[in-house]
Amino acid sequence: MTRILVTGGAGYIGATAVDILMGQGFDISVLDDCSTGHEDDVPKGVKFVKGSLLNREAISESLEGCSAVIHFAGKSLVGESVAKPELYWQVNVVGSRNLLDVMRENKVKKIVFSSSAATYGEPESVPISENAPTRPTNAYGATKLAIDAMITDEARAHGLAAASLRYFNVAGALQSQRGWLTERHDPETHLIPNILRSTPANPVKIFGVDWPTVDGTCIRDYVHVIDLIDAHISALRVIKESSHEIINLGSGTGYSVREVLTAASAALRHQVPFIESARRLGDPAVLIADIRKAQKILGWTPQRDINVMVADAAASR
Ligand code: UFG
Repeated sequence: MTRILVTGGAGYIGATAVDILMGQGFDISVLDDCSTGHEDDVPKGVKFVKGSLLNREAISESLEGCSAVIHFAGKSLVGESVAKPELYWQVNVVGSRNLLDVMRENKVKKIVFSSSAATYGEPESVPISENAPTRPTNAYGATKLAIDAMITDEARAHGLAAASLRYFNVAGALQSQRGWLTERHDPETHLIPNILRSTPANPVKIFGVDWPTVDGTCIRDYVHVIDLIDAHISALRVIKESSHEIINLGSGTGYSVREVLTAASAALRHQVPFIESARRLGDPAVLIADIRKAQKILGWTPQRDINVMVADAAASR
């Protein structure tokens, strides 16, 4: 039986991965410091090490018996990364360095890493392919790009089999046997959770209605968390020794903020209250993934569209 270490397995995406992997018969170990994750999202029967990537002993303990790692752990708020870059460089980059070192010491030779579209920054054109220039506009994206570079070197020098999966906008939720696994961020900055908690007294803000897009609002590429995890499992199966694949994960389709509002209003069966507001600093107008590489290398095509994503996110509340 294959045992996999899921770092960040108490977070939204990591806990979803744990559930799906267990359903497919994998044995799972989780390393999470619960700084943003929730211990109660980790199922019983999983080996859980509550610890940080900055603690090599905790990493070592969590890696026992594992033959592969899916590495989700890290700081992931763009705004916070601009205000506290030192935190992002320390936790994300030093933490990932520690993980790679302890993996090498323990002869664990496979990693699938959660990278981000934020590595590309403001795109020159869309859809964005993996060959697009990488010019991150915040510390979050810069740290993801630095980790990608470390993994490339590790694969070349030490035979690691690796994939960095560059997520666009992850959404939706998974109904597990223990209830819904969903986004539980505090503070919540993401569009869909903010739409779902919108009330007439506290309406969701549309950040900018004067963007150069069809309806003036920003366009993003949303991918369902279940589809996203399926891509990770495919990546685990196809990665090869001494090789590092960088692969975008999105749907390949863009939706404007107004279109997401419309989909959410349909799912909730009432018009979601909103107000038009100023642009948010640092937002690119349009981000859409070129997903041909994921289709080719992983044999993966996302199955769940924006309506399913908002319906699942709504049902999970
Ligand atoms: N938005 C609103 N109102 C809100 C929240 C968001 O109008 O209350 C808009 C944003 O301006 C943006 C879109 O909705 O146009 C999506 O915003 P999110 O905050 O949900 O997601 P981002 O596109 O900012 O961020 C995502 C990932 C990050 C990643 C980034 C890459 O969540 O991890 O893409 O640019 F870094």
